Amino acid sequence: MSAHQQTAASPFIRACRRESVPHTPVWFMRQAGRSLPEYLKVREGIPMLESCMRPELVTEITLQPVRRHKVDAAIYYSDIVVPLKAIGLDLDIKPGVGPVVAQPIRTRADLGRLRDLEPDDVGYVTEAIGMLTGELGATPLIGFAGAPFTLASYLIEGGPSRSYERTKAMMYGDPELWADLVDRLAAITGAFLKVQIEAGASAVQLFDSWAGALAPQEYRRYVMPASAKVFDAVAGYGVPRIHFGVGTGELLGLMGEAGADVVGVDWRVPLDEAARRVGPGKALQGNLDSAVLFAPTAAVEAKAREVLASASSPQVPGHIFNLGHGVLPSTDPDALTRLVDFVHTETAV
Ligand code: CP3
Repeated sequence: MSAHQQTAASPFIRACRRESVPHTPVWFMRQAGRSLPEYLKVREGIPMLESCMRPELVTEITLQPVRRHKVDAAIYYSDIVVPLKAIGLDLDIKPGVGPVVAQPIRTRADLGRLRDLEPDDVGYVTEAIGMLTGELGATPLIGFAGAPFTLASYLIEGGPSRSYERTKAMMYGDPELWADLVDRLAAITGAFLKVQIEAGASAVQLFDSWAGALAPQEYRRYVMPASAKVFDAVAGYGVPRIHFGVGTGELLGLMGEAGADVVGVDWRVPLDEAARRVGPGKALQGNLDSAVLFAPTAAVEAKAREVLASASSPQVPGHIFNLGHGVLPSTDPDALTRLVDFVHTETAV
């Protein structure tokens, strides 16, 4: 049986498809990583990007939160810049900073450095996913990639940014160059997601983490066509496609329209209101504030109950419980384990 068949009856995949579930499925963005002592231990002395290229290490790190928290899905341990590294860009992930690009992409000539991604460029991904699906059995593996806008922001700025000034300068000042850049990135991202699905990923998530920096009319004109191209590239596989960004309250409808089956919602918009903005026919994922996990258990449970109440509205036809953004590195892992158990118990039918 293929990994896709094996995971079809799982609560996570059923919720993505808006089918009935025995309990609300839970997973956490950034569940693999610095909140776990066992992660810090195996990563010791190994640079981030190098760790992404070692299939055995990737398998171990991806499984760690599944074993510990009993989450309903694993997310493939990697980073949004891995496919860009794989096509030969000189970039690194600096601890405490994020992705840093040696020579930013700012001119038409620079586009020449963005060649297509071939499956052979990321053989370690195929290998790791093969190992993982064997270990995971009926637990689904989520593959992921960075969306064209978020990737473009790192490539143009050269690193993380608060105001995206160079990115927006290109978008508004040279719309043709911008369109060609995000179109290139859509092709690379689509190819990268295909590799993950063909290797056995049961769902995919497109992270447009920084799209919230845009007004809806800008998003629609400059970003949505490229993200839609990524979703189209993998539509034929029939695996659920999740679309997520931060601060995207005003963009939720458009992010659904771009082609997602599931729209990720940050902590700023209650799920029943998000459902009105997204419209019918799509499941929602979210949206407990990651910082709530620093409060006492009773407060975490009260806030989690609010998320579940908001998701119980008939307008929310499928709900995957998650945080509104990633797990913060100093989160107590036991608080996450307790939260998974709480959501499972609270929603059991
Ligand atoms: O559990 C998981 O979610 C899977 C692993 C994962 C990583 N990065 C590993 C990682 C995922 C899904 C990502 C996606 C990612 N990477 C995004 C989108 C998600 C989001 O949070 O919005 C973005 C914007 C990036 C870029 C990036 N990579 C940042 C901003 C950072 C943090 C920099 C820092 O040190 O604060 C990274 C590094 C990174 N990616 C780490 C991990 C575990 C930490 C590096 C380390 O452990 O040394």
